[in-house]
Amino acid sequence: MNIIPYGRQHISEEDIQAVIETLNSDFLTQGPKVAEFEKKFASYVGAEFAVALSNGTAALHLSALALGVKPGDKVLTTPITFAASANCIAYCGAEVEFVDIDPDSYLIDLKKVEARLKSVPIGTYQGIIPVDFAGRAIPMEALRKLADTYELWILEDSCHAPGGYFIDSFGENQFCGNGKFSDLAIFSFHPVKHIATGEGGMVTTNDAGLYEKLLELRTHGITRSSSKFSNSLEFAIGEHPGARSAYPGWYMEMQHLGYNYRLTDFQSALGISQLMRAEEGLKRRRTLAKRYFEAFDRSPFIISQSGYIEGHAYHLYILEVQDRIGLYDYLRENGVFAQVHYIPTHLMPFYRQKGWKEGDMPIAESYYKHCISLPMYPSMADSQQERVIELIYTYYS
Ligand SMILES: Cc1ncc(COP(=O)(O)O)c(C=O)c1O
Repeated sequence: MNIIPYGRQHISEEDIQAVIETLNSDFLTQGPKVAEFEKKFASYVGAEFAVALSNGTAALHLSALALGVKPGDKVLTTPITFAASANCIAYCGAEVEFVDIDPDSYLIDLKKVEARLKSVPIGTYQGIIPVDFAGRAIPMEALRKLADTYELWILEDSCHAPGGYFIDSFGENQFCGNGKFSDLAIFSFHPVKHIATGEGGMVTTNDAGLYEKLLELRTHGITRSSSKFSNSLEFAIGEHPGARSAYPGWYMEMQHLGYNYRLTDFQSALGISQLMRAEEGLKRRRTLAKRYFEAFDRSPFIISQSGYIEGHAYHLYILEVQDRIGLYDYLRENGVFAQVHYIPTHLMPFYRQKGWKEGDMPIAESYYKHCISLPMYPSMADSQQERVIELIYTYYS
């Protein structure tokens, strides 16, 4: 039986050649391809700076550190996301505060965010991590207004949405991660995502200070910039002091506690090659989404579906259906590996131990009872999509 997964990477002959070329070069880890990937990715999303990292979770962790998240802080996020969106706050010893989703968009509900912020003194919450869930862009212009009123930073989890956008109040497309409204945005290059490097991640920003911090945190908190050194020149030179006025070539300082969250040069070469096909992939995802939408529009077993929305990047196409478990099992028996995104994070045992319980996020919990993600990836053939649609109709007939 030919398996149809819910998502999968697409590796072309050009991708393979790009990786081989880099493997034959002098650089295996941080070389010129990393900087090239960063520059091209920043330009793709419309941001000034980008920092490539070992995965999306590392991107979230370093972003939280760069924003100064510390024990005692409280940060808002959505329960319908991969757990890493919340975990980065826990890594820093701060508290995660979930806010329920909007039942139509499945995104964090900005009205509920506002109500929460209004109910407490300014300064209670330090930041918010909205997620462009499934590929649908958060209305970031509205969120920025809220964040400014209540003095929050914004860390946009854009793992699902490179190339996605919303339309602002001037009628302009604002691309996810362009840094116009959020302080930082993060992306993942896990195989099911739009751009795959195996493991991989990126942070984008327009803030030069945050960019510098991220670069240092990525490599152990080490700086090689002599203007930042704090130890004396004499100490650095060691046993050959004299008339030298410059720090020696080998010298560097570890000034903060950092990490090794680097992406390799050959992964970056793969990323660059994939990025060149990103628009093509996005176009295909949108075509598939339109077909799903038309196929299920007003079907009696549908409670709700993603719909066809301008700017949506369609990492996932989600249906809310009656008898989700029955459909899931039936599809699996027939070689279609649909998925569920996500089990609400606040009900993961780790977060239950912190006091979160059933009933806290009623919309997210009701969504979880019915949601199913249909196969969605650029190399999916029309015939494969037809098979998925046909199987769903057969199941409910
Ligand atoms: C919304 C979201 N945030 C964060 C991550 C973490 O990314 P990674 O798997 O690259 O660490 C993922 C990936 O699964 C994700 O879907």
